[in-house]
Amino acid sequence: MDHFSTDRLTAERLHQNHLADLVALHLDAEVSRYLGGVRSAEATKTYLDVNMAHWDRHGFGLWALRTKDCAFAGRAGIRHILVDDVDEIEIAYTFKRDFWGQGLASEIATVLTHIGLKQLELPSLIGLVFVGHGASRRVLEKSNYVLEKSTIHHGEDVVIYRIRR
Ligand SMILES: CC(C)(COP(=O)(O)OP(=O)(O)OC[C@H]1O[C@@H](n2cnc3c(N)ncnc32)[C@H](O)[C@@H]1OP(=O)(O)O)[C@@H](O)C(=O)NCCC(=O)NCCS
Repeated sequence: MDHFSTDRLTAERLHQNHLADLVALHLDAEVSRYLGGVRSAEATKTYLDVNMAHWDRHGFGLWALRTKDCAFAGRAGIRHILVDDVDEIEIAYTFKRDFWGQGLASEIATVLTHIGLKQLELPSLIGLVFVGHGASRRVLEKSNYVLEKSTIHHGEDVVIYRIRR
């Protein structure tokens, strides 16, 4: 589970060596627009620690993504998230701006969904998206996630999509 590949991407379990790439990713205001805003380097270090601990505790989590020529492209994964006081498991994906609009999020969402439902045998997965984030909503819809509800998460209007095993 530490590594996997898709047609155009390789995925590697998140570890300390990814810090510099993640810091740069999270400092891009366009990338972070629907992720709660830019994160400082210190906040991203904490983020990395939390997400490495998630791996240790649950045996799955976030992966760093590279193109086949080894360029860092972003991060994606499967992780626990508390939504309306319920422990849910979401898929998440974030790419550097250079890589938007090529179908890469849809490619990784399909594989994450397969891993979550078939390999990890989770009963369902969710996607949590800001209401106005059309591109991410479209990624989930193309991966057969169904709109379930609207709610407030960390003070933001979001929608929850779900897919069941
Ligand atoms: C959101 C994000 C992951 C999309 O990645 P991507 O690789 O460009 O996505 P894809 O190319 O696989 O698919 C995007 C789809 O949304 C569509 N789309 C793009 N902008 C859109 C918009 N404003 N409204 C509706 N649909 C939109 C695209 O046309 C495409 O659909 P199509 O294949 O039917 O044409 C990427 O922009 C990103 O990393 N953003 C920053 C981090 C982020 O917001 N992550 C998601 C948090 S929920």
